[in-house]
Amino acid sequence: MRYDSDKTAAQSSTCTAKCGENMKIVITNAVPADLDDIAALEAVCFPPAEAAEKESFKKRIDRFPESFFTAKADGKIIGVINGCVTNSNVFYDAMYHDDKEHVENGKNQTVFGLLVHPDYQKKGIAEALLNHMINVSRERGKQAVILTCKDKLIHYYEKFGFVNKGVSDSGHGGAVWYNMYLKL
Ligand SMILES: CC(C)(COP(=O)(O)OP(=O)(O)OC[C@H]1O[C@@H](n2cnc3c(N)ncnc32)[C@H](O)[C@@H]1OP(=O)(O)O)[C@@H](O)C(=O)NCCC(=O)NCCS
Repeated sequence: MRYDSDKTAAQSSTCTAKCGENMKIVITNAVPADLDDIAALEAVCFPPAEAAEKESFKKRIDRFPESFFTAKADGKIIGVINGCVTNSNVFYDAMYHDDKEHVENGKNQTVFGLLVHPDYQKKGIAEALLNHMINVSRERGKQAVILTCKDKLIHYYEKFGFVNKGVSDSGHGGAVWYNMYLKL
């Protein structure tokens, strides 16, 4: 996987990455016209108890378009990463639902969700999306990227330098989640 960032703008950010054998993806900020495709992708990637609704994505794109990215291959959305900005060092469930939790000039970038269509997994697309979020967060002067994940993905995030800070208070979808913290 090769990753080329070609932007520096504070609010919007696009890059291209080569993933898998011979696939070029474009990572760019989501827009309202993407909503149907994003909601459909979420429904394919997450069980119903964990999947966010279309209305929730609409609010997120309204509230923090600068940290809501899609990955497209041949113009089709095949991956998504998004998250609000906060002054908290740990992620908590209210961030999913409460618009006020987004603190525009907050110190840390969160990741609410990282998802890639099953037909396109294991080609480095999530890696490209996460690297993009990390890079723009660093450029924006954030101190850390924070997220929660299930135990099976702890090793995946550790490859990027995230540190496991233990079990989260989150009860999202009735699962056990771990606090992951990446110092920038
Ligand atoms: C988790 C998820 C986002 C990963 O997406 P992905 O695009 O397959 O991720 P990557 O390709 O970057 O890495 C996945 C694996 O593929 C491997 N991989 C990466 N590029 C590869 C390539 N070119 N060829 C073969 N394997 C590759 C990675 O090493 C990694 O293996 P690991 O699990 O042993 O570390 C995806 O499985 C998903 O959407 N799952 C459902 C939603 C979810 O659980 N999201 C995370 C919580 S928010």
